Amino acid sequence: MANKDIELIKDGKRLDGRRFDELRNIKIKAGVLERADGSAYLEWGKNRVIAAVYGPRNLHPKFLQDPTKAYLRCTYNMAAFSVEDRKRPGPDRRSVEISKVTADALRCVVMLEKYPNAVIDVFIEILQADAGTRCAGLAAASVALAHAGIPMKDLVSTCTAGKIGDEVVVDLGKEEDNYGEADVPIAILPTKKEVVLLQMDGKLTREEFDKAYELAVDGATKVYEIQKAALAMVGGN
Ligand code: CDP
Repeated sequence: MANKDIELIKDGKRLDGRRFDELRNIKIKAGVLERADGSAYLEWGKNRVIAAVYGPRNLHPKFLQDPTKAYLRCTYNMAAFSVEDRKRPGPDRRSVEISKVTADALRCVVMLEKYPNAVIDVFIEILQADAGTRCAGLAAASVALAHAGIPMKDLVSTCTAGKIGDEVVVDLGKEEDNYGEADVPIAILPTKKEVVLLQMDGKLTREEFDKAYELAVDGATKVYEIQKAALAMVGGN
């Protein structure tokens, strides 16, 4: 991961000019698809993401039904044209992992017990990838679920932090993710600051991890405001 030949931070400024605690530009629009029950389009730096929700509807085959709650499943997919080298279409180890951790995080907020025997499908399509797509996808999916009118305890807000050179910074860009020392994506329930996803790639000391955690939670709290604003705009524009 680390590459000492690339200077990722110089005089306190990162490659794209951001400070250590500055997020990339984020825009979210809820309600972008006619045929989904809920949807959202999200831009996060150069990431471009669509999230679509279908359901709740009856789950088939029937033996998969749970009479006590709905089954929430998630499919994270990267378009073939979303990355520099063409991505081979279809699921791979990475997309299966991201689908799983995303579904696990969303199951913490969706009130699944309200829909016995049902399924809620969440689709995340990465149209353009530039590091941090699991966070971008999860943030968009949570807005799409709220847009679908599905009862939730909270939104899920996300952000990464990590280490580039000797500095701990928020929201790694592509070069920072590729050549940095470590990357920590998190997802929280913003009102209670409860963590529903936390992963780490690379190595951090305990102190560095604490700093990264704090920066990522602050970043996710800013993302929460953008998510709420996107939902407030629905029907208004
Ligand atoms: O996207 P995220 O940071 O959540 O996950 P990652 O596995 O750490 O991937 C980091 C970045 O690598 C992605 O956002 C893409 O920009 C890039 N990538 C790629 O170029 N080709 C792939 N097949 C997978 C990822």
